[in-house]
Amino acid sequence: MTGFQEPYRPQYHFSPRRNWMNDPNGLLYANGLYHLFYQYNPFGDQWGHMSWGHAVSRDLVHWEHKPVALWETEEGMVFSGSAVYDLENTSGLGTADTPPLVAIYTAHYKSTEKQAQHLAYSTDWGQSWQLYPGNPVLDIEARDFRDPKVFWYAPEAKWIMVVALAAERQVHFYASKNLREWTFLSAFGPAGAVEGVWECPDLFPLAVDGDPRILYWVLKVDLNPGGPVGGSGGQYFIGHFDGQRFIPEAPVGADRTHARWLDYGADFYAATTWFGTPQEDKHRLWVGWMNNWLYAQAVPTSPWRGQLSLPRQVSLRRIDGQLYLVQTPVPSLSTLRRQHWDIQNRPIPEGTSLLPVRGKTLELIAELAVGKAWRVGLKVRVGEHEETVIGYEVATQRVFVDRRHSGLVAFHPEFAARHEAQLPLRAGKLQLHVWVDWSSVEVFAGEGQVVFTELIFPDPESEGVAVFAEGGEAQLVSLKAWTLASAQG
Ligand code: FRU
Repeated sequence: MTGFQEPYRPQYHFSPRRNWMNDPNGLLYANGLYHLFYQYNPFGDQWGHMSWGHAVSRDLVHWEHKPVALWETEEGMVFSGSAVYDLENTSGLGTADTPPLVAIYTAHYKSTEKQAQHLAYSTDWGQSWQLYPGNPVLDIEARDFRDPKVFWYAPEAKWIMVVALAAERQVHFYASKNLREWTFLSAFGPAGAVEGVWECPDLFPLAVDGDPRILYWVLKVDLNPGGPVGGSGGQYFIGHFDGQRFIPEAPVGADRTHARWLDYGADFYAATTWFGTPQEDKHRLWVGWMNNWLYAQAVPTSPWRGQLSLPRQVSLRRIDGQLYLVQTPVPSLSTLRRQHWDIQNRPIPEGTSLLPVRGKTLELIAELAVGKAWRVGLKVRVGEHEETVIGYEVATQRVFVDRRHSGLVAFHPEFAARHEAQLPLRAGKLQLHVWVDWSSVEVFAGEGQVVFTELIFPDPESEGVAVFAEGGEAQLVSLKAWTLASAQG
């Protein structure tokens, strides 16, 4: 395929050929294919005319672009939602031989600005979609009632919907036997961070450390504004779900000091899990919109605007006695690895030293020993006048990503910023897994319990990678680095 060479064009992150995208929607695995739908404006590079764009992949790395799946209608826009494979044809929208894929989404009515839940279905594996004639399937005459995420609750053989009452800072749970008739079960919230509206909830069980006997449920809710570093962002709650209600493990006040953030960077929003992936109890797979509502309409890209994070495995791990949501990019990304460097036990003198590693699409796996330094780290996309800094500050025990001098930053006053998160060292060492693309950096620190997802807009010439130490000498215990091939070829 030609194209995908414009300045800042993601090389191994998903972006539409042209026009605006926001949230991933309707993520579904069926028949060997990963489906990705997404909030899309078919007519321009600003938010509007919301429809569902569509792409498919066999490996979550290479994506084939498909025609728009669900178009805006006279009645309203097609907002975020989910999709399921209705294997038993509980909905009756397919047949026993041809079970349907069913999308459950929010219709945003143009005349009233109210929101209600609608269905669409496909009996040809997602090639074409029909709107369900009995829509809406769930309407409470509310203005901020959106983003239904539906999953199969096997213990009671029923579908569960988790949906946001955005302005109330609540999520509501509903149940259905057929996807068409829904019964209210319970509400959760306000809790945790509540400064902004609540959007895009998701709920799923995970075994702690892969042990099926220790199961917890994760409730994820996004928030806009009031995210961890301003603007939009996501939080999670750990607890139990009994088929009726979500009970957090410990009481959670409606106060941001209780919030557990999904990501400490500025650009991870509206993440949602794939329905029906293998090994679901061990880990879920999800992807987020790599952007922030603060400046999403102003990011300097053309002819597209908006991209996704890397698809990630999400699991629950007990670390130092506490449960954490841990994220790691999907293993299939290793097929993109090309040129390789392996550096070991290299002293990091005070100051900044360039490494032989260069590139603007890179994967770096680093271990750093802080030694006598009070600040230490890596720099990527280093050019004559710019750099993106990924570091650690010993005194505060904080990892940080500093994009203040990362390249183009002036398109929004709050873009140039330094973001940080608490993370204790392991025997004086820091583990970093870093992914660099033409307009992003994603940092997975520690075991992946601290993640930073950040857009950056450096000069294409800025390909340097460096290490630095301040206050004393440190050590690069090991660095494995690869250039990554474009997934757009
Ligand atoms: C989140 C969101 C959703 C809504 C969609 C509209 O980014 O605001 O709540 O369904 O975007 O595009």
